[in-house]
Formats: sequence, C-alpha cells, structure tokens
Amino acid sequence: MTARCDGSANRGRYRVDRLDVGDETARLLADLHQGLASSPKSIPPKWFYDEEGSRLFEEITKLPEYYPTEAERAILTENADAMVALAGADTLVELGAGVSDKTTALLDAIGRRNNGKIRFVPFDISQDAIETGASRLLERYLDIEIHGVVGDFDLHLPQLPTAGSRMIAFLGGTIGNYPPEPRLKLLSQIISSMDYDDHLLLGTDLVKGEDRLVVAYDDPAGITALFNKNVITVMARAFDLDVSADDFEHRAIWNRDEAWIEMHLIAKRDVSFDLPGMHVDITRGEYLLTEISAKFTPDSLLADFEAVGLRVVETWTDGDFLVSLSRLNK
Ligand code: AVJ
Repeated sequence: MTARCDGSANRGRYRVDRLDVGDETARLLADLHQGLASSPKSIPPKWFYDEEGSRLFEEITKLPEYYPTEAERAILTENADAMVALAGADTLVELGAGVSDKTTALLDAIGRRNNGKIRFVPFDISQDAIETGASRLLERYLDIEIHGVVGDFDLHLPQLPTAGSRMIAFLGGTIGNYPPEPRLKLLSQIISSMDYDDHLLLGTDLVKGEDRLVVAYDDPAGITALFNKNVITVMARAFDLDVSADDFEHRAIWNRDEAWIEMHLIAKRDVSFDLPGMHVDITRGEYLLTEISAKFTPDSLLADFEAVGLRVVETWTDGDFLVSLSRLNK
C-alpha cells in the first residue's frame, strides 16, 4: 500500500501513501449509478482528473480567460511570508494539491522561516498529479520532505499526517465544486482534522460579472471543452463503452440564483450504453451536469464560516476582487 522512492538528485525525500480508496472502477460505478439516475443526469467532477484530465486542467490554468490561478498566485506571492509567519507553520498540507504549482510561494516562505527545511503533504485523488508535482519540487528544493497522500476528501481527511505545525491549504476554489450542504459537511470534516494551532488557508472564487465568469469556463481555444468531454473518455474506458467524447458538446452557464457556474455535456445524438447493473439512455439534446463551481461574496463566505464554527483571522484579495484567500482557525 505504501510506495517509496528516493529523490536521488538531492537531499529531498519523497514518499507517497495510497490510502485505501477501494477499487477505482467500483467507486466510479457507484458514482455513475447515483448520478445517472438523477435528474438532470450528473457525473461528479472528481472523475475529470485522469492523467489527460490533469494535464488539460493545467493547460486551463494557463489560459488568459481562466483568471483564478493567476489571481490567487499573485495574492500568495505577495503575502506568503505573512501567511506562514502568522500561522507559525513548518508543514504545509495541501488538499487537492494537483501538481502544486502555486504552492511554491508558500513552500518558499516556509523555507525562509526554517533554514530551508520544508515539510509538504500534498493530498490528492490523482497519484499522477502528486508525482508530477513532487518531482518538480524535488528539483527546486534541497531540503524538502514530501509525504504525498493519494486519497479522497470525502473519506480520508482524518487520516492525514498530523506532524508539525500545520498550515492546511485548500486553494484554487475547489471548495466551490461542492453544493451548499456537502460544502458545509466538508468544511466540518476539515475542522475535525485540525488541531487548535493548525490554520486553514481557503481560496475561493468571487462573484463577478457573468461574461467574465462564463468565458473562464468556455474558453475560445476550447481547452475547457476538451477537459469536460474527457470525463466521457474516462467512463468509456473504465467500462469498455461504445461512447465517445465527441458525442457530446460542452456548455458553461452562470446559474445566478445558486451563484455557481455549471458545466454541461449536451448529447449530440441519442446515446445508450450498459454499465454493470444499469442501462443508460441519454436523449439527443439532453445534458449531463458534470461540475458546479460556486462563487462567493464576502457575506456568503462569512455565513458559511459561521455555520461551521470557523473564525476568520485574516482575508486577502487581489486588486480586482477576483478571488479571495481566508486564513481560518477553529
Ligand atoms: C479546480 C475545481 C477549482 O471549478 O474552476 C476549471 C475546475 N473546471 N475549469 C474550477 C475547472 C473548469 C476548477 N477547480
């Protein structure tokens, strides 16, 4: 269950633990049984991130229209020393780390405080992403200890390593993928996994004009469309289905009432397939809901924090109020 390999180029050390996420195909099937029996039919966004999906997401973060990454990076770069010093952190735990690209601002700051010594715990559903990220970080830092954990937010937060004085970063607005009730539940679980001297650094995307929001999820280069459609490839490969990503069209809409972006896949033809234990018919023109990405206001954030008993210690935003970062205590 534990794979180890040495970062041989330097003094950095790397290990990765795969928590028992169970049989991946069985989990996908359970999610499809539930999602495809709902109305509208849905597929949870966590299934975007196979190797190709993680690569496409990284490409999205480099698009000029996808503002959250650069906006968050700017805030982190400018404020990382303050964030880390105030938290007294020597360990960074990153939830949904992906390839940990923006995280270097925080790791640099931890290094500056601790004579170059850094402990980093990237936690992600994608082992590919953790490994790509870790090999880059081992190139960059001489004295880093990376303890990757492959797991699922919904199951494994209690099993995260607790060593060190931890800053738990949940960046990129990923919390927005959760509808209100699951969102509060997830925040509560994060809180339960925290000690009183741990800090949570939460990145959230902010409500803004509809045009800006929609183009961030429907870019002219079509990368987000490929990313969205890739979930069909993931499903078809897992169950050997005669369905193709190109049977669907990408759409992003701003749901103003719910304050979230929805990504849809619209069937270009009637699509039918058999999953183990389930026959699925999707009618031409019908859509699958593949992601919600909630956007927040300062007030809606405070309401959520209050609902779960999180105290806001400090908040940062960029000059254009695109995204915000909150440092929270329990
Ligand atoms: C990584 C979940 C935060 O919701 O903005 C990017 C994923 N989806 N483009 C987001 C995503 C479409 C992203 N998160």
